[in-house]
Amino acid sequence: MKTTLSIIKADVGSYCGHQLCHANLIKAADAVLKEAKASGTLIDYYVAHCGDDLDLIMTHDKGEGNEKVHKAAWDAFMDATAEAKKLKLYGAGQDILSDAFSGNVKGMGPGCAEMEFEERKSEPVVCFLMDKTDPGAFNFPVYRMFADPFNTAGLVIDPNMRNGFRFEVYDIKEHKRVFLNTPSELYELLALIGSTSRYVIKRVYPGADNKVPETEAVAAVSTDKLYEIAGDYVGKDDPVAIARGQSGLPSIGELVEPYAFPHLVSGWMRGSHVGPIYPCSMDNSIPTRFDGPTRIVALGFQLAEGKLVGPNDIFADGAYDRARSKALKVADYMRRHGPFQPHRLPPTDMEYTSMPKVMEKLKGRFESLKE
Ligand code: F6R
Ligand code: MG
Ligand code: MG
Repeated sequence: MKTTLSIIKADVGSYCGHQLCHANLIKAADAVLKEAKASGTLIDYYVAHCGDDLDLIMTHDKGEGNEKVHKAAWDAFMDATAEAKKLKLYGAGQDILSDAFSGNVKGMGPGCAEMEFEERKSEPVVCFLMDKTDPGAFNFPVYRMFADPFNTAGLVIDPNMRNGFRFEVYDIKEHKRVFLNTPSELYELLALIGSTSRYVIKRVYPGADNKVPETEAVAAVSTDKLYEIAGDYVGKDDPVAIARGQSGLPSIGELVEPYAFPHLVSGWMRGSHVGPIYPCSMDNSIPTRFDGPTRIVALGFQLAEGKLVGPNDIFADGAYDRARSKALKVADYMRRHGPFQPHRLPPTDMEYTSMPKVMEKLKGRFESLKE
C-alpha cells in the first residue's frame, strides 16, 4: 500500500516571547486532526512541537499536496491561532499569511515536507524538527547521511547503496531545481549546497539497484522561505525534514550521526545570527539563551499500514550530551563576536530584517569617495 507521510508546521504563537508552543495550541490542533482521522482524511497523526513551532506529523493515502490533508492542517493552525489569541501569546498567527485557504498550504505561510512511498515490510522513519534556523540548515546533515562514507558506513559496506543517492537541489532565489547523482557528482553537489542560503536539498532518491525504487523519495525537506512568500521579513522558516531508514538506506544511527557534531547554522536571534545547532528532546526544545541556540529534535517512528508507531524521542539519549556541551562552548565563542560577522549574517542575508531601515535613515549621509 502507498503511504504518504506529511509534516506541515507553523508558528502560530508561543510563550514567553518566541520560546515555547503552549499546550492549549497542541490540544486545539489535536482536536482538529482527531476529526480528520475519524472522517478518513488521515490514517494517523502525531502533534509535536519544536520550540515555538507546532509540527503536525500526519499519515494518509492521498498523496502529496492533497487538498483535504492540507485543509485539515490549515484548520488545526486556525484553531490553534484562536487559542493563541485568547491567551495573548506572542506572535499569535504569525505564520498564517492569508485569510482564506486555497487548496494547498504552499505559499500561505506554513512549511511542508511530504513523501509518498510503498511501505516496505518494515518502515522506520525519522521526523526532524528545527527551530530558529532556515532550510539550508539541513544541507550539511542530509549530505552526510546519504553521501558521506565517513558518516554512513552503509555506503561502503551495504551493496544496496553501491550506486549512491540522487539529490534534488532547489535554487530558492531563482526558483529552479537540479538533480545531482552521488558519488559521481559529489563535488558539484557540494559546490551548490555549501551555499546554504541559496541552494537547499529538497529530496533524496536512491541510486540504481537499491531495494527501494529510484522513483521513491527517501528524504524530504521543507524549503519554504517565509520572506520569499511574504515579500518582507515575517516569522521564521524553521524547517522540518523526513528520512526513511534501514534495509538498503542509511540506518537510523547513520541518519542521526551527523548531529553528534553541532554544525553552524543561520537563524539565531532575530533570524540574523550564526550559531551552533543544539540536538535535544522535544521537552527540551525551549530556545532560551539569545533566543536559542537553534534546536533540532528527532522523532523516530515505525509505520504500520500508515499507523505511526512511536515516537522515540532520539536526542533525549545521553549519547548526545557531548554534542550539546560542544554546542554550548561554540555558542559562548560565537556570542563574543556581538554584532560582527560571521556571528551576524552577511548583509545579503539581512535584507529582510531591519537593515533596509538603517540604510534608509543613512541614505543621504553617504558621500562619494571619488575626489
Ligand atoms: C523568532 C526569533 C527571535 C525573534 C526576536 C525578536 O523566531 O528568532 O529571535 O526574532 O525575539 O522578536 P520580535 O521582533 O518579535 O520582538
Ligand atoms: Mg515565534
Ligand atoms: Mg520557530
